[in-house]
Amino acid sequence: GRDLLSLADLQPNEIQELLTLAQQLKAGEVKFDFQRKTLGLLFRKASTRTRVSFTVAMHQLGGHVIDLDPSVTQVSRGEPIQDTARVLDRYLDVLAIRTFEQAELETFAKFSKIPIINALSDLEHPCQVLADLLTVLENFGTLKGLTLTYLGDGNNMAHSLMIGCALVGMNVRIASPKNFTPDPAVVSQAKALATNSEVIVTDDPKLASQAAHVLYTDVWASMGQESEAEDRIPIFQPYQLNSELMALADRDAIALHCLPAHRGEEITDEVMEGDQSRIWDEAENRLHAQKALLASVL
Ligand code: CP
Repeated sequence: GRDLLSLADLQPNEIQELLTLAQQLKAGEVKFDFQRKTLGLLFRKASTRTRVSFTVAMHQLGGHVIDLDPSVTQVSRGEPIQDTARVLDRYLDVLAIRTFEQAELETFAKFSKIPIINALSDLEHPCQVLADLLTVLENFGTLKGLTLTYLGDGNNMAHSLMIGCALVGMNVRIASPKNFTPDPAVVSQAKALATNSEVIVTDDPKLASQAAHVLYTDVWASMGQESEAEDRIPIFQPYQLNSELMALADRDAIALHCLPAHRGEEITDEVMEGDQSRIWDEAENRLHAQKALLASVL
């Protein structure tokens, strides 16, 4: 199967094609009929957007969805992943997995003949970034040469944004506190992919926000680090996406957040509800981007 474990599994032209298809699907210009195709959802972690948008996307494409809740399958009782993968691919046509371990996705991909989609892991969130790029494209009509600034934890979102921006020719700046910077291996990977743009990692949120076209943020503690949330607040405070940082960005800049948001922490209520916010379109675009992705792998 053709897997999407990392955004780097896509070539630049493939991302462009997916975004074009997503726009056509959103405009109702193309239709698919994947009767008798089944998508499995194996989510080890709670989800609103990813779960609902994948489910609705598959239904709108004419196919079916089965929820493989680990607590009601043998997955939570220790059946080896290599066995589970070789059974599920006899029933399903595509499998989306949300897991705390990228290695688990890789094992599924190795042992399964159907496409495996990363629906969020400790390393990346590629489906989210497809929707983010679609939102940027809708707003600016282009991606090349634009600058996206990500403020906050150098986490899975920072990783996929770096790779995604590099692949489409956008400049990307990651502004994170010291000790919360992105994985250096992913930074190197993004720099190698960025043939026509810059990848910058800094601890200066103001400098990073200057003249940016997109200001992006995400929760300050996630993926099992939620217990550190209180301790992180003072460290991350300067990285809050607020009207002060918006004022430093390009006058036409937009604000994005993958959600769920903690208002008053990583983003202010004012920015979330302000004129420059495209956060609700961004959430909607999960549906269109994943429909395009499912159509392309099916
Ligand atoms: N952005 C995102 O992945 O949201 P959910 O965790 O609700 O799926």
